[in-house]
Amino acid sequence: MTRISVTVDGASYSDDVEPRMLLVHYLRERLGKTGTVVGCDTSNCGACTVHLGGRSVKSCNVLAVQADGAEITTIEGLAQDGELHPMQAAFHECHALQCGYCTPGMIMQAIDVLNDNPKPSEQEIREGLEGNLCRCTGYHNIVRAVQVASGQEPKAASFEGSSS
Ligand code: FES
Ligand code: FES
Repeated sequence: MTRISVTVDGASYSDDVEPRMLLVHYLRERLGKTGTVVGCDTSNCGACTVHLGGRSVKSCNVLAVQADGAEITTIEGLAQDGELHPMQAAFHECHALQCGYCTPGMIMQAIDVLNDNPKPSEQEIREGLEGNLCRCTGYHNIVRAVQVASGQEPKAASFEGSSS
């Protein structure tokens, strides 16, 4: 066992973990952060994406011991004082999800994309999200949501009736 100390969604934790334990399993099983989900366990789908030290990572591709000393943000740490994060609000407004399984990772990755490039083109958004798979939406409304969150598309009404 190895002792690690991390800050997750603003709270501090110290735990003994097996050196082989994946960060995603630590978050879900030890801390109860089940908003971060596992889609593949082989670093293909992006469903497990969190922010580690301010950058997005696939948490099934990181050992918990590698996160020792780091600050981690999960989908559960985005809303503040009952207010959705602007990216969460944009996904909601744009109907950018169906089953929702990919959504936590997609939102965490989308925030990272805008942190790098606040006004990305549609192509840059698609490239930034290419490591996150969605089986439901066809990606169209996800891209629109990122455009809304970046202030490049108007909010709300123009998305009414959209279904994909
Ligand atoms: S569960 Fe981590 S990339 Fe799929
Ligand atoms: S909304 Fe179902 S996988 Fe993306």
